[in-house]
Amino acid sequence: MVEGNILVIDDELVICEFLRDLLEDRGWTVNFALSGQEGIKAFQAGGCDVVICDLKISDMDGIDVIHEIKRVDPDSVVIIITGYPSFETVQASLREGAYDYITKPVNINEISFVIKRAVAFRDLTLTNRKLTKELEQQNIKLEKKVKERTEELSILYSVGLDILSTLKLDEVLQIIVDRVCAVLELEICSVLLVDKEPGSLKIRFVRGLENEIKNTKIKFGEPISGWVAEHKEPVLVADIETDLRFRKRNQEKYYTHSFISVPLVIRGEVIGVINVNNKRSRLPFTENDFRFIRGIANEAAIAVENAQLYASLEDTYLRTVMALASAIDAKDHYTKTHSEHVTKFATAMAREMGLCEKEIKEIEQACQLHDLGKIGIQDSILNKPGQLTPEEWDEIKLHSLKSAEILRPLSFLGGVIELVEQHHERYDGKGYPFGIKGENIKVGARIIAVADSFDAMTTDRPYRRAFTDEEAIKELKNCSGTQFDPKVVEAFLKVLEKTDMLNTLHQA
Ligand SMILES: [Fe+2]
Repeated sequence: MVEGNILVIDDELVICEFLRDLLEDRGWTVNFALSGQEGIKAFQAGGCDVVICDLKISDMDGIDVIHEIKRVDPDSVVIIITGYPSFETVQASLREGAYDYITKPVNINEISFVIKRAVAFRDLTLTNRKLTKELEQQNIKLEKKVKERTEELSILYSVGLDILSTLKLDEVLQIIVDRVCAVLELEICSVLLVDKEPGSLKIRFVRGLENEIKNTKIKFGEPISGWVAEHKEPVLVADIETDLRFRKRNQEKYYTHSFISVPLVIRGEVIGVINVNNKRSRLPFTENDFRFIRGIANEAAIAVENAQLYASLEDTYLRTVMALASAIDAKDHYTKTHSEHVTKFATAMAREMGLCEKEIKEIEQACQLHDLGKIGIQDSILNKPGQLTPEEWDEIKLHSLKSAEILRPLSFLGGVIELVEQHHERYDGKGYPFGIKGENIKVGARIIAVADSFDAMTTDRPYRRAFTDEEAIKELKNCSGTQFDPKVVEAFLKVLEKTDMLNTLHQA
């Protein structure tokens, strides 16, 4: 049995051969060198477990040989052999890194024992070295992992803060999609929410695909979002074409076959799904990406639910004040359809003028709420059959401010409140309550003013008969540039030209 490789460095051949015979009988493999230089070369060639080196060699000092060997391999085990042991030489050799020393004449038991101990020591040193290296590598890996996770959590935290920074559902969805796209460097991301129709999802926000797919419905169970919603299970798919759960052919727009789909779950109920596709790098998604999206989905689910609850609360408030406004209209026989007519005229004008959907929505709500403040005006004044006194007019004129005051706590109404407040301002600055003029009056308020006046003129009042449509149109034209914004009057005339709106309203 081979115990190990031993290199003997001694300039006495007889000693070398003696040691070789002795040690090979005990299972060691022995090479020898008859000079220091030859010994160093043999050691450099490798494969040596233990070096036995004479302290007195003809070509160099044994201490220098130890020094060189230790320089080549600091873990090498060198045993000094000397016929003239002295405290100083032994101390010097140990200081250079010699493991032990034996004296000549050699005692076979002693040398066997020292070599075995030396080999065991070397094995221990090497094992220790290996373990230390492994530990260092593990530490490096661990540090890298901790760093990655810390960065991941920091991004997750920051994205979470962003997602929760608004209560508007559309904004929440946009932030989710945009931040996920930015962090994972994606081209496609979408959020689907559970639809009113039970058991189906609707695409509510998407980046990277045609906008027309927004509002597309997917039934629970259908691949892939529907499957994820039904199973309440996030999926990371490496290759869609080979995944047995879906067996779906990849579409052209998905140039990678890999994707992630994660459900948005609140208290065990699925409220939506996030899908991500197409990394810009063209690489498949990783477990890290999967973990990140799952983390985002937790935050997103909370934010979406908050936004939905808030929207429902807004809706309830809005319905309440709308009901109040309708009650005011209904109280007055002459004006019961007033808000409805004003809304139709004003939204049609806003469209004609090319206003955006958000502005049109605000105008629509303002029309329904504009005279809400009349609730605070005495019926005796509101329904007075004759002419109003100047004091009574002053009272009436307060209604736009009162409307705005009632609505002010409903901050979600935003620009609607200003439109309500300004609906009796005149283009020439002679209106109320502020007397502002021209473009200083919100365009929505200038539109409502025309619609409001036209409907008032064409409605019977206790103290006068209604104008005909023609008379009212003439009056609008007369007052264009003074009471009314000419652009708005022009838009109204175009609406009347293009539509059958007046006949429709008269027949209703
Ligand atoms: Fe009014």
